[in-house]
This record gives sequence, structure tokens and C-alpha cells, in this order.
Amino acid sequence: MTENQSYIAKTQFGLETILAEELDKLGANDIQILNRAVSFRGDKAIMYAANYCCRTALHILMPVLDFKFRDKEQFFEKIKGFEWADLFMADKTLSVDTVMSDTFFSNSHYVSLYCKDAIVDYYREKFDKRPSVELDNPDIKIHVHIRGHECSVSLDSSGGSLHRRGYRVKQGMAPVSEVLAAGMIMLSGWDKKKNLYDPMCGSGTILSEAAMIAGNIPPGYYRKSFGFQNWNNFDEPLWLEVKKHADDAITEFDCEITGSDISEVSIMVAKANLTSAKLHKDVRLVESDFRTFDFPHEKGFIITNPPYGERIMPEDIIQLYKEIGNTLKNRCAGYEAWIISSHFEALKFIGLKPSKKIQLFNGPLDCRFVRFELFEGSLKAKKEEENKKIE
Ligand SMILES: C[S@@+](CC[C@H](N)C(=O)[O-])C[C@H]1O[C@@H](n2cnc3c(N)ncnc32)[C@H](O)[C@@H]1O
Repeated sequence: MTENQSYIAKTQFGLETILAEELDKLGANDIQILNRAVSFRGDKAIMYAANYCCRTALHILMPVLDFKFRDKEQFFEKIKGFEWADLFMADKTLSVDTVMSDTFFSNSHYVSLYCKDAIVDYYREKFDKRPSVELDNPDIKIHVHIRGHECSVSLDSSGGSLHRRGYRVKQGMAPVSEVLAAGMIMLSGWDKKKNLYDPMCGSGTILSEAAMIAGNIPPGYYRKSFGFQNWNNFDEPLWLEVKKHADDAITEFDCEITGSDISEVSIMVAKANLTSAKLHKDVRLVESDFRTFDFPHEKGFIITNPPYGERIMPEDIIQLYKEIGNTLKNRCAGYEAWIISSHFEALKFIGLKPSKKIQLFNGPLDCRFVRFELFEGSLKAKKEEENKKIE
């Protein structure tokens, strides 16, 4: 590992640019946007900071070995020939994940087992000891990427996925991932000053992430551990310094963050999650139907994730989206509303022209994150007013 080590930060489709901006702010070098990932270079402190501070990263991978291979025997020898003990000791537990394309290997699970056997053979021959396999919560996570006859092996410096912030104690019915929620808020351009509302807040993920963004609370703040803490080169004083630097920026905030939901259970779940993050005093929760929710006159952002219709009748989902549109038109003038949904047909029934559409994925569901600008007075009057200002 060098002072200018290369890394790959994995993210979700559509969040690459936001992640690149986050890495840039941390001081990473050679940032390049890839498909569902961003590559960058930096020292160990940058890697620690990327894990602790990047809201839209899922994993920070450190490539350790690249090679070409003819057949499975050569693949095995290349893995076994690598100096694994430079990275971690035999007393660690490990797991191997494989992603592959265009290869003679027929099964990625088999490749993972084969790779693990090669690493175990290396330790056994060299130290007469072997790391054991632990699938759920390994100390060391190894990623193998095969394309054709080329293989790239990385260590996952994050350990478990970074969307597991550590504050979620209760699961809602259909929560968005923390990384998607943070990405949506950042894509919306919310300035942390205007009030923010989620009128269908479910388990409160958008609210928790918004409060963390407003208060500069690092996304890793509640997490107990990271993969890099199990590496030989773990530098605890440096890690504590990186952490302190980020924690010192935590601040109070003035904007109002409010969530409501028609379901009493959802409000209880949201409350439990916000309490676990110690954010319950910063976020107001109201049990309410959005159709009757009293949107405050002080204007702000609405960011919400309504039901997509997997569990409700098609005619009801169209009606729900019509009513979302009516509520926005009649009671939310002056707000900027962002809605994510995979139900493209229902989105049309909102009856407002979106001023922006961004493709995102909620798990496997292809979604659109759409913006509706709800001008006070008619759009024509607004435009006339703007023109006057320009004159
Ligand atoms: C997809 S879930 C939101 C999940 C949330 N983003 C999270 O991360 O947990 C949709 C939510 O809309 C709520 N909902 C449905 N109809 C509603 C209505 N008329 N008024 C308010 N909330 C409603 C449901 O109770 C549910 O919690």
C-alpha cells in the first residue's frame, strides 16, 4: 500500500457524480467516474475518510492483485503465489465474493471457493496455520472480479456495506437504503437551510439522512467497525485523527425537518430509528394522512418515497398519485417537491410537469426521481416577475 494507492468506491447507479464530489471534497486524487463506481487515489487517511464520510459509497475497495490466467490451475497458482500475509494474519476470518463475465468458469460461487482454497493453502504452507471462513461477518472481505482471462482481486476496506450506518434498529415495510436516501437528498440540491418534509416517511430513512447531512454528522458515526481495522497496516492513531477531524465539524442546525405517515406503526419505527441516532429532538414526526397534513407556510423541500403499488390495487395507486398531485398543487405552493417511484404510469397522474427526471434504482426497481417546482401564483406570473428583475 502506497501513499498514492488506487481505490474503487462502489455506489448505486445514478449516484456516481455525487460520490465523486464527496471524494473530491475529502482531497482524493485522480477521481474517475465509472459505472456504479468511482476510482480515486490517495493515502491511508483518505481511505479512512472515504469510509467514514462518503454518504453515497457502498464499499471502498483496494485492488491488491491483477493478473491474466489461461486456465483454472494458473488462476489458483496466481492467487496462492500472492503475499497475503503482508495484508492480514492467519488468525483472521475471511470471505470471498466473485463477480464474473465472459469466462470459462461457469459458477461464481465455485470461483470464490477456489480462491479461498488457494489463500488457505498459502497460509498453511507458509505458517502452518489457516484463516477460517466466516460468511456473515468476516474480518477480511475479498472481492474477485473476472472478465475473460483477466482477474482483479481487491480487499474491501469497508467490511460490511456502508449503507449499514448502524442507527437503524427497526425495519419499516419498504425502506429505501440509507445510501439511496442520502443520494436523493444530495441530488435534490437541498441547501440544509430550507425546511425539509417527507409526508410518507415510513421508517424515517430520508429524515435521518437529512438530519445527519444538516448536522454534518458523518455517515459512519454510528458504525462500530470497518474492514480496514482488521488489516496489518491499521494505523489506529491516524484513524482516530481522521474521525476526530470529521466529528469536530458536527454542528447544530436551524432548519426544520419533519416527517409524517398515515401509519401509526411507521411513525413508531421512525421514532425508534431517530432515537437510536440521537436525532429524535431534531426531527418532528406527525401521524397524518398527507392529504390533511398541515404543510407549514415557511416553504421548503418535499422529498418522499410513496408506495409503488407492489402491495396495493392498481386503481388505488393511480388514485393515490392523483391525490399527491392535488395536494402539491393546492397546498404546497412555493415548495420544491421530489418524488421517487418505479410506477411510471402512476407518476403521470400527479398531473404536474416535472422539471427534472433522474434515473435511480431502489434495490432492483428501476425508478425515476422527479422534481416538481410548485411556484407560488402561476408559473406565467413567476416568469414575468423574473423577467422584470432581469430588466
Ligand atoms: C415506500 S414507504 C416509505 C418508506 C420510507 N422511505 C422508508 O425509508 O422507510 C411508503 C409510506 O407511505 C405511507 N403512506 C401511504 N399512504 C399514505 C397517505 N395517504 N398519507 C401518508 N402516508 C401514506 C405508508 O404508510 C408507507 O409508510
